[in-house]
Amino acid sequence: MQHHPARLIARKRDGHELSAGEIQDLVGGVVDGTLGEAQLGAFLMAVCCNGMSPQETTALTLAMRDSGRVLRHAQVAKPKIDKHSTGGVGDKVSLLLAPLVAAAGVAVPMVSGRGLGHTGGTIDKLAALPGYRTDLSPERFGEVLDQCGYAMMAPSAELAPADRRMYATRDVSGTVESIPLITSSILAKKLAEGIDGLVMDVKCGRAAFLPAADDATALMESLCAVGSAAGIRMAALRTDMDHPLGLALGNSLEVAEVLAALEGQCPDDLAELTLALGAEMLLLAGVASDADAARAVLQRLWRDGVARQVFRHNLELQGGDLRVLEDPEVLGRAPHVLAVEAQGTGFVADVDPLALGELVVDLGGGRRQPGDAIDPHVGIVLKHVLGDAVRTGDVLAFVHARTRGAAEAAVGRVLAAMPVGEERRKRGALVLQRLA
Ligand code: URA
Repeated sequence: MQHHPARLIARKRDGHELSAGEIQDLVGGVVDGTLGEAQLGAFLMAVCCNGMSPQETTALTLAMRDSGRVLRHAQVAKPKIDKHSTGGVGDKVSLLLAPLVAAAGVAVPMVSGRGLGHTGGTIDKLAALPGYRTDLSPERFGEVLDQCGYAMMAPSAELAPADRRMYATRDVSGTVESIPLITSSILAKKLAEGIDGLVMDVKCGRAAFLPAADDATALMESLCAVGSAAGIRMAALRTDMDHPLGLALGNSLEVAEVLAALEGQCPDDLAELTLALGAEMLLLAGVASDADAARAVLQRLWRDGVARQVFRHNLELQGGDLRVLEDPEVLGRAPHVLAVEAQGTGFVADVDPLALGELVVDLGGGRRQPGDAIDPHVGIVLKHVLGDAVRTGDVLAFVHARTRGAAEAAVGRVLAAMPVGEERRKRGALVLQRLA
């Protein structure tokens, strides 16, 4: 390192602004190991406590992007636009959105993450598709993108490697909750994909990574400012994560929901969010004049089965078993499926996404630690949503579990997460704020 790390850390501790060169030097030390673990932890804590200016956050993002390979996809002439979500319960939008937006003539290079804790990850959902490969080389990723309009891959060690070390240290040093660190972590990886634009779905509500609306808005503003300064087009939606998205929670159950949605049977909230995010992607790509026109194009491509054809092509290119398209049973099934019945008559007064997300993890469908194994088949399928009228004995949900005991133990937790009351509550708006 050119600069003395302790001096840079002390300057950040004392509230001074670091130059782009100083930040590049620190990130260089993260990658080549010359910045020690104590120094990295101290630097991250100084940023967490004192924040960063937009210029510093941009410099950090670009240095992290440039810590590894930056893909270009020169062979792909179409605009390249991705969507990224901060994570939610039941959020399977990417699986539906990518083929839909690709069908509209936009290239969608998607490097997605694995789930940790109660929010699922797209890569874990794709792992529930028999045969589907997400361990693509960057070259193969580009070929698939070119051939079918979208490609999905797991994070590669070659892309933004600085983030791996920084995120692992943040995780154990109480420095995850920092807007500049979250911004640079998300955008460094996304910029390395080789995109022209990015739509962010920033969730807020009980099961969101940042539950408070103010924090979610601050993240949207930071992402849009830094992404734009880094040279890509940006839009962000703040969306509700006070309730699960769609009806299926758990990896193969969510894939089955996506397969049905591609055939036209889609829960209203999942369709609404997919179209809202898709419209933003078409606007960023410059292939639609306004949001209404964009939605109309997407609805037609969905209804006419074009999105399903693109999904099929991608499935074929990434090694997935095409039989799932005709027979979702190919996805497999958990051995024990138990109905959860309403204990009273009235209206579903809540559907708590945090409680249900935690339950899916405990059933084996998510991980507590990064290396934990996942059972793709377990989870919950809701039969009712907030405000539905139910009678005693009506099925509120089905639990899919590995053992009879696990299924029985889950029943009480589903009942607690879905109380039945006298008052009819309606779900509020799904899209709460837009920034573009
Ligand atoms: N997702 C990321 O990739 N990084 C963060 O810091 C937070 C969420």
